[in-house]
Amino acid sequence: MLLTVDAGNLWNAAREGLLAPVTSTALEANIPAHLRDPENRWFGLAVRARTIMYSTARVKPSDLSTYEALGDPKWKGRLCLRTSSNLYNQSLLASLIKQYGEPATEKMVRGWIANAPTYINGDTQILEAIAAGRCDGGITNTYYLARLVSNDPSFAVAPFWPDQNAGGVHVNVSGAGITAHATNKAQALALLEYLSTPEAQAILAGASFEYPAHPGVPAHDLLKKWGTFKAQTAGVAAAGEFQAAAVKLADRAGYR
Ligand SMILES: [Fe+2]
Repeated sequence: MLLTVDAGNLWNAAREGLLAPVTSTALEANIPAHLRDPENRWFGLAVRARTIMYSTARVKPSDLSTYEALGDPKWKGRLCLRTSSNLYNQSLLASLIKQYGEPATEKMVRGWIANAPTYINGDTQILEAIAAGRCDGGITNTYYLARLVSNDPSFAVAPFWPDQNAGGVHVNVSGAGITAHATNKAQALALLEYLSTPEAQAILAGASFEYPAHPGVPAHDLLKKWGTFKAQTAGVAAAGEFQAAAVKLADRAGYR
């Protein structure tokens, strides 16, 4: 079995022929179609949102709206971002290309870059920089904030859910597939199916602060406090399908 993070990684593994297609009514029932490979070679097991994070001391939620609006000049010098070589950001851009097309996504990225973001390589480090006042907002995965808040409930950074009247918040998965050359395929399938059950989903999501992939399993209490949001429904496979386009787009737009 291959168990890894990011649909982009899973998509590339499938494209290289490393994963075997699976026929499983349990997996198809437990994992929504947009969180798995259309050809059933991999399945998302836990969901993370890559969303806007802001300083609760210096930013009001009403100052925020969409990913694109981070390109508003009012954010000049106030953003912390990871570089475009980070796979999470490549998957974010790939999903935005899928949702809005290349021209609109390129315009969005050019807006961010025009605001001269501070580049920081680490989601946790971005959140710590926001809390410390080095920047007022950024984009990170949700579980990194959950870890920090679970250690320090007064940590002064909160998530904002962008694009609620448009394509929704970017979501990605950690997930798994059965390797093409697995010698114990039946046992691997049994494990994969178990990981999709409500029992295992609750354990997985509770341990990693990710959202359960199974829609019937409640999120961790700490995540529940952040409210619900409209997530992208176009399919996490876009992270792979548009990865090369995302890298080229970032390069054109001057996104380091
Ligand atoms: Fe991560």
